[in-house]
Order: sequence, then structure tokens, then C-alpha cells
Amino acid sequence: MDLRKTLSELGQEHLLDNIDSLSEADRLQLEKEIASQDFNLLNHLFKEHSSTPVISTEDEILPLTFDLAENNIKQAMWEETGFLLLEKGQVAAFLVAGGQGSRLGFEGPKGAYNIGLPSGKSLFQIQAERISNLSSRSGHPIPWCIMTSPLNHEDTIAHFEENHYFGLPRDYIRFFSQGTMCALDPNGKAIKSSPEHLALVPDGNGGCFRALAQSGTLAWLIEKGVRFVFLYSVDNVLVRIADPAFVGALASDGRALSSSKVVRKKHPQEKVGVFAVKNKKPSVIEYSDLPDALRLETYPDGTPLFDGANIAIHLFRIEALKKLQSTPLPWHSAKKTVFGVANAWKFEQFLFDAFPLLGSMTLYGVSREDEFAPVKNADGDDSPKSARLMLGMLHKYWLQQAGVTVESRKLYEISPTISYGGESLSQAVFDRELGKNILAFDP
Ligand code: UD1
Repeated sequence: MDLRKTLSELGQEHLLDNIDSLSEADRLQLEKEIASQDFNLLNHLFKEHSSTPVISTEDEILPLTFDLAENNIKQAMWEETGFLLLEKGQVAAFLVAGGQGSRLGFEGPKGAYNIGLPSGKSLFQIQAERISNLSSRSGHPIPWCIMTSPLNHEDTIAHFEENHYFGLPRDYIRFFSQGTMCALDPNGKAIKSSPEHLALVPDGNGGCFRALAQSGTLAWLIEKGVRFVFLYSVDNVLVRIADPAFVGALASDGRALSSSKVVRKKHPQEKVGVFAVKNKKPSVIEYSDLPDALRLETYPDGTPLFDGANIAIHLFRIEALKKLQSTPLPWHSAKKTVFGVANAWKFEQFLFDAFPLLGSMTLYGVSREDEFAPVKNADGDDSPKSARLMLGMLHKYWLQQAGVTVESRKLYEISPTISYGGESLSQAVFDRELGKNILAFDP
């Protein structure tokens, strides 16, 4: 069908303005980008989102309670189960790294960012070394799926190439790009970023289920016999990738299709999503959508009702991922300046919207000091500095627990190649590794 006619029926004919002045290659590029977009969906989202609030007064929102898994007597048993699954090659890691990292002010892929630890390692390297530690202990490589976006795909692969995939087997790592959505101007018209390009922005981390399937990576995991997929965000320097105890806990639960780690919120305004039961379904409500009345609501003893923070660490059974490849997630909208257009509409899906669709999930409570130090802002809270301090204090604590004499004024960085979560440390290891795989630094 004639492209101009189709676009004109969709109210987007302006995209072809000046097309005759484009070179052949640029024209083909523009047509390709137009074909990649579902303008019916975009028009529908524009109409729907300009009038409907995300949380309405009709919604029933109740807290989703959880216990901390620390000191749980089942912990050792879960860890053993998790290791058995790792040994059989049934656990994979899935990193969503298609975001723009704009709050941090770093141009490249966020995972390539060096947070200033004495080792100078990037977030990707720390993650790769944790994977490598577990792989050598379990005797089986861990498949690692990495979702990028068209904005950082090439740079992400280049970072891994330059670093020789951090010594991991190349054929166990798969990169694939997520989809995009065209931004709309305040009147619902698709924006162009240049005469031959649409203003395409990543479709949100919820695009991960579609991208996993469409890139053939889901089939790759199934073929490898993977049964559990550890899904996580790029920015948490303490993330215990493929955590055996977390895997074992879900595997021991006959019903749940997924599990999420949760910590207590630091304060009501912390910018984290919270776990809740929305209209009788387990859910996460994003910080930007949680009405103040609920944010500040407390039990009679003063503890907040909604204090279970989403730290973006989840585990899915492979059956859940199969289901999600064809179950559409809802869309969220944000008004931002996009390519110089103020108050432009951007549409995204959030991966945690999978939980109500799956129906059954469990929460796995952990302590923030052990597992959550995200790098989001250039300074202050959740910055490279706060993440360095948290890692340094945790690793120092591990050494103290192992009976090592440490310097009271120093913090320590322990390479994941020698310890994943505080194990295998002793005075002898410390004496041998100090200055090599154990580095001291000033707070
Ligand atoms: C996210 C969570 C929030 C949680 C917090 C914990 C979402 C929508 N929000 O918030 O509930 O409390 O982490 O740190 O998940 N990404 C993509 N593609 C995209 C957009 C993002 O892959 O199109 C990736 C990012 O690279 C990152 C992750 O998703 O790894 C989280 O995205 P980010 O935008 O940093 O979310 P936050 O606002 O930090």
C-alpha cells in the first residue's frame, strides 16, 4: 500500500515532508525506520495516556509483605540446591543494559563505567568476574544474555572485545538489541531526529522479553537446558549474579514462576519501585507512580506500609519467559525533552509488569548492605562514591568475619575471582593477595 496514504490515515504524513530532497540511501533509511514502528499503537497510546492516570482511585493497592532471608536456616540448603542446578548448567544470567544512563552523565554504555575502585574495573568486569567465580566452582559455564539498545549496542560489544570477554567463553555470551518506539510531540505527531531518522528511543526494559525471544536467545537458552534465568540491572555494584541460594529458594518453591529480591526502603522518598498487591495481583509500583498518600502511609507503630524496595534483581523460570514472549505488557509514558522537542511523549514498558501477568511470585528479602549499591547519579546518593564505600565496607566486613586483621581506617576491594560472597578468605589468603586481588583504599 502507498506509504503516504497509510501515514496520512494515521495522521503522520508529515514524516514524508521533504523526502524528495533526500538521497536514495537516506530515503531508504527513513522508510525502514517508519516500517519498524506501529503507528496504530503509538496513536492509541497517545490518546490513552494523555487522559488516564497510572494509578486510579478505583485501584486497590495493598502492601506485599516479606521476611528477610538472612540467618534463615533454609539458606544453606537453598545454596546447595542452587549449586546443583549451576553444575547441571540450568542457570543463566540476563542483563538488561539498554538504558541511556543519562542521570550519571556518562556517554558510553553504563556497564563500561569505572566507578573509581582501586582496581579500576568497570561494572561489566565486576559482573563477568562474579560469573566466572561461580562457573569455576560449579564446573559449568553460565550463559550470559546481554540486552543492549541501538544506542549502545556497538559500543557494548566493543568494550567486551577490547577486554577479551573478561576471560569468559565467548560462545556463552549473547548480545542483542531491544526495540525502539518513536517519540511523539505534544500533539501526538511522530518526531524526527534528522531528515532521515525518526526520534527512536528504547522501548523500556520491559522490551526484554520480546527481544530475548525475537533474537533467538530464548531458544538458545532452552536448547542449552536452562531452567532458571537471573534477570538484573547494569548499575548495582553488589549484585550477586546467579546467586545460588536465591536460585535454590525458587527451585524449592513448587508454585512460583518468579522471585524477586527485596530490601527495606531507606526513606519514603527513595527513588525505587515498591512491591505491592495491586487489584489482588503481585506488582511493583514505580516511584514516579506511587501517590504520596500511599508513599507516606504507616502502620500504627510507624513503620511504612510500602517499604519493600525493588532492587531490580529477579529470577524467572524458563516457563515464565516462554509465556511472556507473547503476553503484551502495559505501556508507561513520560514527558521529556526529546531531540530538542519539549514535553515530548516517550513510551516504555517496565519488566516488573510481568509479575501481575504471571500471577505467582515470591519475595526474597536481603539486606541492602550486602546486595544493593546502585550507581545512578554523578554525586550524592546512589553515586560512584556511595557504591565504592558500600563495596569497601562489605568486603572489609567479610575479611573481619574470616578473622583477618585489617587496618581500621582502610576499606578493601576483594576481586570476585577469589571470593564471590565472602567465602574462601583467611589471614593466609589476605597476606598472599594484598596488593594483588585484595586492594586497600581510603574511604
Ligand atoms: C529501576 C526500576 C525501579 C527500581 C530501581 C532499582 C524500572 C522501570 N525501574 O529504576 O523500580 O527500584 O531500578 O535500582 O525498572 N534499561 C534497558 N532498556 C531501557 C531502559 C532501561 O535495558 O529502555 C535498563 C537499564 O540499562 C538498567 C535497568 O533497565 O540496567 C534499569 O533502568 P533505569 O532507567 O536505570 O531504572 P531506574 O530508574 O534506576
